[in-house]
Amino acid sequence: MEYLNVALAKGRLAKEGYKLFKKLGYECSEMEEKSRKLIFTNEDKKIRFILVKASDVPVYVEKGASDLGMVGKDTIIEENRSFYEVCDLEFGECRFCVAALEGFKYEYNKKIKVATKYPNVAKNYYLSKGKQVDIIKLNGSVELAPLVGLSDVIVDIVQTGKTIKENGLEIIEDMFPISARLIVNKVSFKVKNEKIKEIIEGIETIKEDRDGDNKL
Ligand code: PRP
Repeated sequence: MEYLNVALAKGRLAKEGYKLFKKLGYECSEMEEKSRKLIFTNEDKKIRFILVKASDVPVYVEKGASDLGMVGKDTIIEENRSFYEVCDLEFGECRFCVAALEGFKYEYNKKIKVATKYPNVAKNYYLSKGKQVDIIKLNGSVELAPLVGLSDVIVDIVQTGKTIKENGLEIIEDMFPISARLIVNKVSFKVKNEKIKEIIEGIETIKEDRDGDNKL
């Protein structure tokens, strides 16, 4: 039997994602040990997990190096690659927002400098608003940019709002909500359909049970 290859976005999403697979019976004890390994196999269950940078999950899945991937909707929109998005995993929930120094106001006809880890998301957002922008692509700690005069605003994901607040910024626009998703390689979806369908159905059942618990 063929292996099922799963790409998880390193960090908190990987932990949550693995927990879900474990609940479905695809445990991999090696994943639970502290190590710097990047690939983990359970020979009995014929499953192999890899840990990659979030922005690389869509690449592995599009190219078929992974059959499945678990990654945030933020990365999916930004990377704009080809695969099936089959399931909202309902964890990793946060929002895309525009933030700026307290008291900031857009000036009519002035080009706005936007710092972000998500240049495509930011570009499309301001295009839809008809505002002229200069996008400054950063790779992290985006909240710094308005503080040191690198940008007027930032476009970023906000979860608790703590980073924004502790750096003296405020949300000026709420863009849209995001959460982790299950994505599937298009060929794998056909070739390994039975196993993949079983996983999707398993996830849907876990989600329904969780909703039921919340209602109690
Ligand atoms: C993300 C995001 C914000 C922060 C939001 O960054 O880009 O900076 O988390 O979380 P909060 O609203 O709960 O404070 P991440 O932790 O991935 O670090 P990075 O900026 O180095 O990419």
